[in-house]
Amino acid sequence: MISQNLLSYGLIQSALVPFAILLFAFNVASAAERQNCSAVSQQTCDVAHKLGKGINLGNMLDAPREGDWGVNVEPEFFDLVAEKFDTVRIPIRWSNHASTSQLAIIDEAFFQRVEMIIDKYLARERYVIINMHHYNQLFGDKLNPNEFSVDESVVQARFLSMWKQISLRFKDKSDKLIFEILNEPHGKLENRAWYDLMNQALAVIRVENPNRVIMIAPSGNRYESLDELANVLSNGYDKNVILAFHNYAPFPYTHQGTSWMPWFPKGVSCCSPEQKNLMKTQLMKAIDWNKRFGIPVHLGEFGANNQSSDKDRATYNKEVVSLMNRYSVGWTYWELASSFGIYNPKSREWNQLLLDSLLIK
Ligand code: BGC
Repeated sequence: MISQNLLSYGLIQSALVPFAILLFAFNVASAAERQNCSAVSQQTCDVAHKLGKGINLGNMLDAPREGDWGVNVEPEFFDLVAEKFDTVRIPIRWSNHASTSQLAIIDEAFFQRVEMIIDKYLARERYVIINMHHYNQLFGDKLNPNEFSVDESVVQARFLSMWKQISLRFKDKSDKLIFEILNEPHGKLENRAWYDLMNQALAVIRVENPNRVIMIAPSGNRYESLDELANVLSNGYDKNVILAFHNYAPFPYTHQGTSWMPWFPKGVSCCSPEQKNLMKTQLMKAIDWNKRFGIPVHLGEFGANNQSSDKDRATYNKEVVSLMNRYSVGWTYWELASSFGIYNPKSREWNQLLLDSLLIK
């Protein structure tokens, strides 16, 4: 009896083994791979994985004055975005709303407006990334219409002083609020110059926010400078940072017909095997960097503008999103309601095809 039971047990077991192997293989194939968090705290690792799917409120508070670029932060955006996305990234041009002296006193009405928007999303338990965006003088870039200039000698001091005020004002907010030190450092702020300033800003923010997650960026947002960034950080100490990187490959497709990159003519489609290859190669550089250095990464911007067909844009989105999801890399699509947008603020409608292409599992 016993031996018969054992025998049938054994038979069932052996019949189940291939099934179990199949199940295991399926799970491994479909489960997302977690990021390497060996150089950061558990809290930061968790945040990086929870950022999930997100979107930028682009061209709103990053315009010289809100509304200058045709879109405002509308009250309807709070529920709308929170219903679909885990994270909202709010690009902000603080520099044009602060006094011209080195103290850069931030205009109170503007501060209140930003705080109200942050609070709306935090109340909806969403992650909120705020940054310093388009401080053009910091880079030596041409200024935009309606952007004022300040004395060259105070440009960097203003940057640090604005962070001091922001970090003090928001120090008691939920830890779902994340500070991103600077969008796409470039120009005058390449390499050493950027890393020096980045470390100074980190130190300023850490006075009031010792554990808040802070997003840092490589110089020029270039993949080539990622290793250099790792060297800078390995001398450092901070366990609560995430690396933000951007990817618009292939540029001739994503930026065709834009006024700021007029050298990319209209009429480029997406996505050929070569284009897919390029996208994957670029994105994998950030993923490989994470594996080597143990600092989680986040794709802060990607997107294609409305000069190309919705069908192609949806294909492009799915390509990027599926890769990021597979490696548990959070992303924030560029952007909600302007020329790269997926929502029409006039008709108050989502572009369903594009929205669905971002929300794929
Ligand atoms: C810039 C935007 C631009 C987008 C795509 C962002 O970082 O701030 O002005 O539309 O990149 O080029």
